Amino acid sequence: MSDQAEHRRDAGLVRAEGCTKVYGDGPASVTAVADADLTIRAGELIALVGPSGSGKSTLLSMLGALLTPTQGSVRVDDVDVGSLDERARTELRAQRIGFVFQAAGLVPFLTAEENVATVGTFAGLARHVARGRARQLLDELGLAGRAGHLPEALSGGERQRVAIARALLVDPPVLLADEPTAHLDADRGQQVVELLADAVHTGDRAGLIVTHDSRVAAEADRIVHIADGRLRTMA
Ligand SMILES: Nc1ncnc2c1ncn2[C@@H]1O[C@H](COP(=O)(O)OP(=O)(O)O)[C@@H](O)[C@H]1O
Ligand SMILES: [Mg+2]
Repeated sequence: MSDQAEHRRDAGLVRAEGCTKVYGDGPASVTAVADADLTIRAGELIALVGPSGSGKSTLLSMLGALLTPTQGSVRVDDVDVGSLDERARTELRAQRIGFVFQAAGLVPFLTAEENVATVGTFAGLARHVARGRARQLLDELGLAGRAGHLPEALSGGERQRVAIARALLVDPPVLLADEPTAHLDADRGQQVVELLADAVHTGDRAGLIVTHDSRVAAEADRIVHIADGRLRTMA
């Protein structure tokens, strides 16, 4: 194992320390996440579970450098996100973090393959490289025959698999998913969870899935509970 791989495994690829997010100020302020410590190691999939409004999406957004903590720090692959300006944070996200959200969020007038390949532009991939990798990922995710279809011609489960391919295009070390099975039936949901878990485990990525879904929890290496913005790790 290389030094970097070993370090990612031991010290963690994503590290939140004392992470707090307060929305607004004064009496109307909401503390969405309070003093969260969380480490995600390479090859580890965490299920983040908690009731609606408990701070799951806020925490995921801070881990993914989409949102700046009010207090505390987040490190992604040894980079202190708080030390970066907006442009550098955008670059960090494009190169190192794959996101999958509740809705696939595909561009309606681009084919599945184009939807996946397009994100390569932001990470500086040559167009033909991005397209080749997009085709390969769609193939691996069981969508070879769907590459040329527009999103409207795909089922919900297929669209979410395209979103996974898009999240993996640049081979990011971190994969974050926010309720990715919320709009899917049991079978499609299970398939999506297995694909995400596989991407984390075989790709040695740090993974976190926000979910209410017990099937997701079953695939996870660790379950972290959140209530009223506070984390509790169960053994
Ligand atoms: N942009 C925002 N402005 C103000 N309050 C917010 C904002 N986003 C979320 N909240 C509040 O923060 C709390 C946590 O929200 P969220 O992280 O979305 O929870 P979850 O994903 O677990 O449903 C909730 O009380 C929510 O109303
Ligand atoms: Mg949420």
